[in-house]
Amino acid sequence: KMACPYLSGKKSKRRHSEPVLFDEGDFNLSSQEGKNKITAPSQLTYNSYLQLPRLLSSQYLQSSAGGKIPVHDEHLFIVTHQAIELWFKQIIYEVDSIRQIFADSYLEERNMLLVISRISRVSDILQILSDHFLVLETMTPQDFLDFRPFLMNGSGFQSLQFRLMEIKLGMPEDLRVQYNKQHYLEVFFGHEKETLKTALGQESLFSLVNAWLERTPGLEGNGFDFFNKFRCSVQAMHGEFEAFGEEIEDEEEKQEHQLEHSRGVETFNSIFDKNKHDELVARGDRRFSHKALQGALMIYLYRDEPRFHLPFQLLQVLMNIDSHLTKFRYSQTCMVQRMIGRKFGTGGSSGYLYLRSTCSDRYKIFLDLMNLSSFLVPRDRIPPLNQKTRRSLSIQDIYAPEVMRRVAEDQE
Ligand code: HEM
Repeated sequence: KMACPYLSGKKSKRRHSEPVLFDEGDFNLSSQEGKNKITAPSQLTYNSYLQLPRLLSSQYLQSSAGGKIPVHDEHLFIVTHQAIELWFKQIIYEVDSIRQIFADSYLEERNMLLVISRISRVSDILQILSDHFLVLETMTPQDFLDFRPFLMNGSGFQSLQFRLMEIKLGMPEDLRVQYNKQHYLEVFFGHEKETLKTALGQESLFSLVNAWLERTPGLEGNGFDFFNKFRCSVQAMHGEFEAFGEEIEDEEEKQEHQLEHSRGVETFNSIFDKNKHDELVARGDRRFSHKALQGALMIYLYRDEPRFHLPFQLLQVLMNIDSHLTKFRYSQTCMVQRMIGRKFGTGGSSGYLYLRSTCSDRYKIFLDLMNLSSFLVPRDRIPPLNQKTRRSLSIQDIYAPEVMRRVAEDQE
């Protein structure tokens, strides 16, 4: 039998194959060096800095009211909500700071890295939020039922921060699914209602990004005139495709080819024809202005140009935000289905069915960025940049004149 080396006070003879978890040096005196600097309770401490006494005494279990034995899982239910609400707070904090940077009439390029790191933080937080539901799902529906009646009419539908987050990101108000034929504002009162109304009157991240995309260099009609060139290139591509179809002898194959051709033309017309674009916007199937969509497409196609690197990354992260937010909604929906089945929500909605309807494209903010892939063309169909635009999209100040000369030569 092996004796415990700590209890016996003797060192064990370790066999060769046993893993070394701690070196003996870990327990010698050097690990105990230093001195405890906290000498008076008035000093700033870990607890006081983080206001832990307040935070950790904010879990009141309704099931314990009147001195009753609390339902065990209600603690987890409260902590999960509070943890998520704290993350909502951080998201709003970051989104507000990004909105402020974008609010200037032009976005200083030197701020781009900061914008991307903060918006990526928002995206990462949203991504981990869904995992919180995994923990909550360790509670069984029967256990939930033990304290559900104590929640009365309380519901996540009344989460002020969730609405603020949606509004500040730019969730389209007119596309929301009606909840019990009620506007969500009707469940808020006093100061909370005012806060929401103020947020609704401010520029959202979506509208600021839209304005920024409209200013994309290269769109100017009297400059590179990207969109016109792009239209010509796509029309030439479609023309060649159609001509190829004429040569097909098999009638069925020919018809299929024609169908594919007209589908392609129709798809691209939805961006080339401004009226069609506006119709889609009016229907809620498209969000960006016509000009902003062109800017986004230009960034997609010319992302290899140095000054488009960061804008392209920003567009990627904005898409991640939509993905994570949709996954968050979907995770919550699945959890609700297993917890309450088809019962009505404590807030009065149809519960699962209501939440399921929020997982659709209507709730995607930067939807157009995802759909933009429909308008990508093979590389050799991308109109080549002229020298002036290529220079303006390079980082000429830090390029040696020699490099710029070679770029110019390449163009010739
Ligand atoms: C057992 C766990 C949960 C159940 C059964 C549940 C149930 C529901 C139901 C039925 C709704 C629809 C509104 C209603 O009629 O009440 C809802 C909405 C909502 N819940 Fe939960 N929920 C749970 C956990 C959570 C957690 C942990 C959060 C995190 C903060 C949360 C946040 C929300 C939000 C923000 C909404 C509004 C969604 C919207 O309108 O788009 N829920 N919940």
